[in-house]
Amino acid sequence: MSTLYAEKSFTLQQHSEQRLPVHGTSSRSSPLHVAIIMDGNGRWAQRRGQPRSAGHAAGAGNVRRLVRAAVELGVSTLTLYAFSSDNWQRPAHEVHALMRLMAEFLRVDTPDCVREGIRIAAIGRRDRLAPHLRAAIEAAEAATAEGTKLHLRIAVDYSSREAIYRAACRFYKATRVDHASFEEILGEVSHAPACNVDLLIRTGGEQRLSDFLLWEAAYAELYFSPLMWPEFNAEDLAAALEDFHARDRRYGALPGAVAS
Ligand code: IPE
Ligand code: IPE
Ligand code: MG
Repeated sequence: MSTLYAEKSFTLQQHSEQRLPVHGTSSRSSPLHVAIIMDGNGRWAQRRGQPRSAGHAAGAGNVRRLVRAAVELGVSTLTLYAFSSDNWQRPAHEVHALMRLMAEFLRVDTPDCVREGIRIAAIGRRDRLAPHLRAAIEAAEAATAEGTKLHLRIAVDYSSREAIYRAACRFYKATRVDHASFEEILGEVSHAPACNVDLLIRTGGEQRLSDFLLWEAAYAELYFSPLMWPEFNAEDLAAALEDFHARDRRYGALPGAVAS
């Protein structure tokens, strides 16, 4: 064990006792956290001879439909990957179109979310966002804070590795050094509590995580769809959930040992 671990009384045993997910069974009545990497907007548009920005607009429309479908299907937390920190590398006009769509979504949909009990939160960095988008996020979070039907978390300027790194730097200086306190700090740097993912869906045909929820998805079930995000509909989400409910989640234990 390193000197650092010894100094901070952070033993491997303590860690392993606390690391198992405390929720996330495949029972239909349990809280269910679904995370989606909404990929394929650009290809969807290009196949139609349209600019990539048209794909992003269609993708934003699909967010509206799928959020409602998630509520109907009993999802309790939905985390959507809207813009990764690596997406800043895209051409300025594409970044601008994405940011504009995000601000518009928050402005137009917040009143409906209030009515429908949908609580909005943004995860990721905020210091590089335009002030008007930051303000729109804060306004949406404040207006929807009482929502209990669905916790809708939108990942914007999000990098899981960066969040973990920043949390680790703060953790190093923390007075309480256990697993729970690390997760608390990770939640603080991401602007919303870390929350185990049950089902992680990626559309667009790629089978990778692209720096999304690396900590929270430790025991997530993975589901890859060849459909581009604008064409992934409520029935496709229902099919992904059916597939998820048929799986046996073991968390490293033997079959049947985990309550469901
Ligand atoms: C996902 O669609 C949206 C974002 C990454 C912001 P893409 O824009 O990545 O679409 P493809 O993968 O190029 O088709
Ligand atoms: C992941 O998609 C990010 C979002 C969906 C917001 P990308 O299209 O950016 O990922 P890569 O580049 O294919 O890994
Ligand atoms: Mg992509």
